[in-house]
Amino acid sequence: MARVIVDVPGRPYPVVIGRGALQALPRLIKEMGVTAAAVVTDRTVAGLWGGVLQDGLTGHGLTAWVHVVEPGEHAKSLTELERVLNFLEASRVDRRGVVIALGGGTVGDLAGFAAAVWLRGIRCVQVPTNLLAMVDSSIGGKTGVNLGRTKNAVGAYWQPALVVSDLALLETLPNTEYLAAFGEIVKYAVAMDGSLAERLEADAQPLLNRSSEALEPVVARCVELKAKVVAADEREEALRAILNYGHTVGHAVESASGYTAAHGRAVALGMEAAARISLEIGLCDSALVGRQDALMERFGLPGELPAVTAETVLAAVPRDKKSVSGSVHWVLPREMGRAQLGIKVRAETVARVVRALLP
Ligand SMILES: NC(=O)c1ccc[n+]([C@@H]2O[C@H](COP(=O)([O-])OP(=O)(O)OC[C@H]3O[C@@H](n4cnc5c(N)ncnc54)[C@H](O)[C@@H]3O)[C@@H](O)[C@H]2O)c1
Ligand SMILES: [Zn+2]
Repeated sequence: MARVIVDVPGRPYPVVIGRGALQALPRLIKEMGVTAAAVVTDRTVAGLWGGVLQDGLTGHGLTAWVHVVEPGEHAKSLTELERVLNFLEASRVDRRGVVIALGGGTVGDLAGFAAAVWLRGIRCVQVPTNLLAMVDSSIGGKTGVNLGRTKNAVGAYWQPALVVSDLALLETLPNTEYLAAFGEIVKYAVAMDGSLAERLEADAQPLLNRSSEALEPVVARCVELKAKVVAADEREEALRAILNYGHTVGHAVESASGYTAAHGRAVALGMEAAARISLEIGLCDSALVGRQDALMERFGLPGELPAVTAETVLAAVPRDKKSVSGSVHWVLPREMGRAQLGIKVRAETVARVVRALLP
């Protein structure tokens, strides 16, 4: 079992990662003085893993209530938030209680936000059930719901009190979702950690087989890398920008696909584009581009992206004059494990690169 501390000032919290970690959860929350747990999950995850968690809690003498939402982004709404809050009220969850978010990023954001506002904030435990949530959304304390067409319009920074990532839960994840998460994992490697890249290259096969032994150090390293950025300043977007490697074009791909493209796959295409832009403007060599491509290919990335074209993606890439801040700041790789922030790129360069990558 690996243990990483997210050292946010004043309220550091542990992230426990490993096969069977869920079995340790009841004991860990009892040590926090918790007597009752309100579990928020989605219908799919509830059917697969809800019983295991609930039995564990009640088996340790804890009171456990469960609230189930429908899977999908629609769960991140004010309506669903109100339902979760009604559930917390009906369950009489007070300050000695805890909200447990059992699910992917959707449930994590909704339940985390409910914990942030219920009784002006009670403790939350994140139990990410998919690989993407384990390496990204469960860490860092961003919570919230959507409003109208604005994603994450209403939310709060609310750091969890504990994160429990049980690698056994990944067994039930559809393969395409499992693989897409490697978009985010390769991001950490290329932008922040050359030795993680080496590990991914060496252990690609066991990782493809979902070996917990191979996964544990990889998930732990990604968590450590995100934790470092978050602990430096949880609210400072400029520092967090390194985490956005591949996301400028990635977000454009998501938008062009009407949000049907898997996030990790969109980011993978975004990294292909960013590395080629970096090469074109002389910030990296072709060996880096080739090595990143090869690494992503091992995990089937970018793979299938629903009917996006170069032109629809380019239309969605923020341009200098249009974007709110007045300029787009690209994150571009210099060498394996090191990226540079805040680079301005000419629109023609972006267009040339994206047209070469997409039909
Ligand atoms: N807070 C943050 O820092 C942060 C970061 C990135 C993304 N997000 C948010 O996360 C959301 C997306 O999260 P997501 O990609 O994890 O999707 P998700 O939470 O919707 O999960 C995807 C699907 O996987 C299923 N699933 C989860 N675990 C499973 C398991 N073990 N076995 C089988 N099926 C399983 C779920 O039921 C769901 O249908 C977005 O709303 C995004 O804004 C937040
Ligand atoms: Zn991302």
